[in-house]
Amino acid sequence: MTDPSAAVLDTLTTTEAGTASRHEAGFDGTLVVLSRRNVAAGVVSLELGPRSGEGEGGGEGEGEPLPAWRPGAHIDVVLPTGITRQYSLCGPAGHTSRWRIAVLREPDGRGGSQWIHDNVHEGTELRVRGPRNNFPLRPAARYLFVGGGIGITPLLPMIAEAEAAGADWSLLYGGRTHASMAFLPELEPYGERVDVRPQDQHGLPDLAGFLGDPDPSALVYCCGPAGLIDAVEARCASWPAGSLNVERFAAVTGQQPVGGENNPPIEVELRASGMTLTVPPQLSVLKAVEHAGVPVLSSCEEGICGSCETAVIEGEIDHRDSLLTEDERAAGDTMLICVSRARGGRLVLDL
Ligand code: FES
Repeated sequence: MTDPSAAVLDTLTTTEAGTASRHEAGFDGTLVVLSRRNVAAGVVSLELGPRSGEGEGGGEGEGEPLPAWRPGAHIDVVLPTGITRQYSLCGPAGHTSRWRIAVLREPDGRGGSQWIHDNVHEGTELRVRGPRNNFPLRPAARYLFVGGGIGITPLLPMIAEAEAAGADWSLLYGGRTHASMAFLPELEPYGERVDVRPQDQHGLPDLAGFLGDPDPSALVYCCGPAGLIDAVEARCASWPAGSLNVERFAAVTGQQPVGGENNPPIEVELRASGMTLTVPPQLSVLKAVEHAGVPVLSSCEEGICGSCETAVIEGEIDHRDSLLTEDERAAGDTMLICVSRARGGRLVLDL
């Protein structure tokens, strides 16, 4: 008799083959907004696709295929204001004719989401890069998904994949109010697997009850505000290493500032470019490299998106990002140069 969990693992392992890691970004160009929909109070969903007449299909969204992607992937939207923001792909996984994102209007944010809400409509063209995946769905027999607010977006395609693979999964979805919670109609068909918990009716989500005792066969995926992620991290502290996977929208609080006067200056050798730079306390390694005229990808400049990840040939890294896992930090062969620095005063980078 076949072990059902083995079948699930097999399905997910097979589909992993197309996984885009954070090290590869496929598309860099202009897409047009094919549709704009209000999906909750303060949340719009946008479908983006190739411009009309581009590629072979001729119609909007039917041109040259977009790069394939796996659940957990996000794209960069580069706004005309110069701001770049990351949005999770939340349509059907792997869709290559159109990409769907959802944007929460954040009145206290740095203006990116407000600009999109106020200026982006059907037909608007947007510069887009990606997809990139810092939050890949790994094979497991059981998944516990925890979403807070707009953090539901990367979980939607994960849930569809877990369901298609026959995995045992459940979702705890919290939000401020029922009206503020996006994509509820899409989750309805999953019935009791989904626990919707608007805070104004139920208070804070019952993480202890939902997560239960550590389960070595399960993976936990969480995306949402910092407070929720911190609470899930605390709950999962006794779970096997690697059980918990999180995606943050904002840098972990308490990290040392990138450009603080207390930073010691660093010497950075760019081995491939044959130059050595001195990075003063107030400058990030990323900015120093850019000033030296060496091209390097960047986006969030907060240590959360992964686009500036750079291989380190020598030197001890002072990791200040909110993305790398403990294992990746311990390996010491890669760093996010927008925020991280050096402990020993010198780094050799593969740039
Ligand atoms: S630019 Fe986003 S992590 Fe460095």
